[in-house]
This record gives sequence, C-alpha cells and structure tokens, in this order.
Amino acid sequence: MTGKTVILEHPLIQHKISLLRDERTGTRDFRILVSEIAMLMGFEALRDLPTELVEVKTPITTAKVPMIAGKKLAVVPILRAGLGMVDGILNLVPTAKVGHIGLYRDEVTHEPHEYYCKLPSEIAERLVILCDPMLATGGSAVQAVDFIKEKGCNHIKFMCIIAAPEGLSLLQKKHPDIDIYCGCLDDHLNENAYIVPGLGDAGDRIFGTK
Ligand code: PRP
Ligand code: URA
Repeated sequence: MTGKTVILEHPLIQHKISLLRDERTGTRDFRILVSEIAMLMGFEALRDLPTELVEVKTPITTAKVPMIAGKKLAVVPILRAGLGMVDGILNLVPTAKVGHIGLYRDEVTHEPHEYYCKLPSEIAERLVILCDPMLATGGSAVQAVDFIKEKGCNHIKFMCIIAAPEGLSLLQKKHPDIDIYCGCLDDHLNENAYIVPGLGDAGDRIFGTK
C-alpha cells in the first residue's frame, strides 16, 4: 500500500505556525499553540477513520447514525518535543492509548539515539499516530517507524508541524507505505541540520530548556 503526503494549507494552521516561529513567543504560548495545531492536524489525519451505523433513539425517533468503528488508536510521541502534540490529539480521541519513543539527535553527527521505547499492548492491531513537531533530516522519524513496524504494526500515520524537504524525502523513501501529514514544508536544513526558517529547537521551546 502506498501512503500519501498531505501538506496542510488551512489558514488557521498556517497562522498558528507563524506565531510558533516568532522568537518572541514564550514557553506558555508555544505549548498552547503546539497543542492547538496538533488538534487541527489530527482532524485532517483522522478523516478516513471508519464509521459504522449504530441505532440511537433521539427525542423524535430512532435512527441509524454513524459512530467511529474499527481499529483502536495509539498516539505515539517522539520524546521530548512530540509530547507537546499528545493532548491536542487526545482531545479528538480521548480513548486512544499513548506510547512513547525516546530519541535524541547527536549534536555533531545529527544521528538519532534511542533511550526509551514503550508501546501500548496489541500495537499490531492499532492505528498509530506517530507525532513529532519537527522532521529535519528525517533520521528520528525513520527510526521511530522502524521500531513500531518491528512490533508488528503496519498502519502508521506520521504527523509533524514543520518538515524540511530532506527529511520528508527520506521518510517517504524508507517508509513509502505510511501517511505523512505536515503543517508546513520549509525551505532547507542549515549546516547544523536545523530547519530554515523553522522555529529553532522545538523541545527547548516547549519545555523552556536550553
Ligand atoms: C528534535 C525533534 C525531532 C528531531 C528531528 O528532537 O523533536 O525528534 O530533532 O530531527 P531529525 O529529523 O534530524 O532526526 P531532539 O533530538 O532535539 O530531541 P528533544 O525533542 O529531546 O529536544
Ligand atoms: N529539531 C528541532 O527541534 N528543530 C530543528 O530545526 C531541527 C531538529
């Protein structure tokens, strides 16, 4: 199965991403914006969730009406920065389970290193929403998808707020079957593998570290 790539062009998402980019946006507002953007993106990413007709008695009559059916969901943030997106997605699907994949990029080689991986039970039967605000070289996302597939899950959607062309190409090449949702596709990576224009270090801006 071939996955699709969707660049979200909704003006509300674009506006909020522009606020995120602004270096004057402080930790509190940054966190709120990341969560709001994740919810708006989740709305699009979950548009193909299967529904089934269920009988409901309204005050007027009984009717068969659609309700979400089928696969169970798991939201899996890539630590740390992906944590900022979890609440926004859980606002849409409060019953989803949450897994965690801990990866950090080596500052010199920019290669991802794993330090934690805990996924919900029956992961192979779930639809996984993997989230990370930044897709830069793509190394972290590729490795996170590798982990999830190793556990037997083959239904994965990756959500990021900003992608670089380099990271998007790598993820599409290594995992052509997954759906990818990006809030914005930026211009390029700089010599330190930061996205340009980007928003800086997402983890530091969410958690107020440096
Ligand atoms: C950032 C970001 C991604 C990764 C993207 O995390 O949140 O996980 O870099 O870069 P890549 O596409 O080149 O792999 P970082 O490693 O800085 O860790 P942090 O979230 O703990 O700050
Ligand atoms: N990670 C970030 O947080 N920002 C970038 O621009 C690249 C990787």
